[in-house]
Amino acid sequence: MGNPLVGRMQGFGTTIFAEMSALALSTGAINLGQGVPDTDGPQEMLDAAIDAISSGRNQYPPGAGVPELLEAIAAHQKRFYGLSVDPAREVLVTAGATEAIAAVILGLCEPADEVVMFEPYYDSYAATIALAGAVRRTSVLRFPDFAVDEETLRAAFSPRTRMVLLNTPHNPTGKVFSRAELDLICSLAREHDAWVVTDEVYEHLVFDGVEHIPVASLPDMAERTITISSAGKTFSATGWKVGWLHGPAAAVAAARTVKQFLTYVASGPFQPAIAMALGLGDDVYQGAASSLQAKRDLLCEGLSAAGLEVARPSATYFVIADAAPLGVSDALDFCRRMPALCGVVGVPVSVLCDDVDAARTLVRFAFCKRDEVLEEAVTRLGQLASR
Ligand SMILES: Cc1ncc(COP(=O)(O)O)c(C=O)c1O
Repeated sequence: MGNPLVGRMQGFGTTIFAEMSALALSTGAINLGQGVPDTDGPQEMLDAAIDAISSGRNQYPPGAGVPELLEAIAAHQKRFYGLSVDPAREVLVTAGATEAIAAVILGLCEPADEVVMFEPYYDSYAATIALAGAVRRTSVLRFPDFAVDEETLRAAFSPRTRMVLLNTPHNPTGKVFSRAELDLICSLAREHDAWVVTDEVYEHLVFDGVEHIPVASLPDMAERTITISSAGKTFSATGWKVGWLHGPAAAVAAARTVKQFLTYVASGPFQPAIAMALGLGDDVYQGAASSLQAKRDLLCEGLSAAGLEVARPSATYFVIADAAPLGVSDALDFCRRMPALCGVVGVPVSVLCDDVDAARTLVRFAFCKRDEVLEEAVTRLGQLASR
């Protein structure tokens, strides 16, 4: 009967992350491919989830999310960014940021509408835009500084632009968009009367005192901005899949209409636990960022010593390194050979790009791992230098 997969999903087969993780497993290589932390988040948060399960909070939560989490998300936006958000009408809890992205794109984009975004991009963006029958228009962030290129960004906008899909801090580059870059993006969005959907899941994993600026906090932007985040990264709880979005009530209602037919609800007992975690002290937030900053330094030094050219990230738990100085001309092939060469796995950045040439020799490594794992990875990477 041929390939049963619908045409618009063809080309979105098994992801490179699955391939590289399987390779790590079968070869015993250290997996720095997938961004999965190998330690747990705050103990109080874990205890709160256990309490929620023990006390019977195991059935469907309300469609928009449990009230204490809606309140906690609004309080978090006020505390960190001074944003006033109505928890009753302007917040929606989702099954991770992934579902928030899907609900917004499917809820706001008609077929053939255009979505402006940057590449390399988080892989669910392209797949979800394709599912909606919409069209992605990209502008490339180029190694090593990944600055916004005004000319190609302007050219990506058209009368069909429905939304800008932004990710700051940015996976995989570790870039935090500057105020000037955000001002440019926002003025183009206003000019084209487009929504700005901003994925800020790495909002708290920022280093060196760099400031993360939520788009919704910029002048006149709250009315056209939908902000997405998730507890997975901030609290090392990726498996709990507690995400959320907030924005103007009409846009949240549109996303909610779609969301109720995707999962309806998810993560019942984890929602009150994340509500508690969001209210934890600044020390918890800062502790997570400073511990990751030290891990970033460790891995970046190791990659440089191994002979790669490193673009030091200001945020997230990813670093991109260029393997060209090692004589590599194709990062995909290099990543497949890395377990044999040095016993470490990374992912080729080109799979996250439409313009494959812009990332031909770039590899992404994750550093959300225990220090001893990173130290061993650095020792192993050293073998590349001696080849
Ligand atoms: C940029 C970005 N957005 C969204 C997600 C997905 O978040 P969640 O696990 O909360 O669905 C990720 C996960 O890696 C990500 O890197």
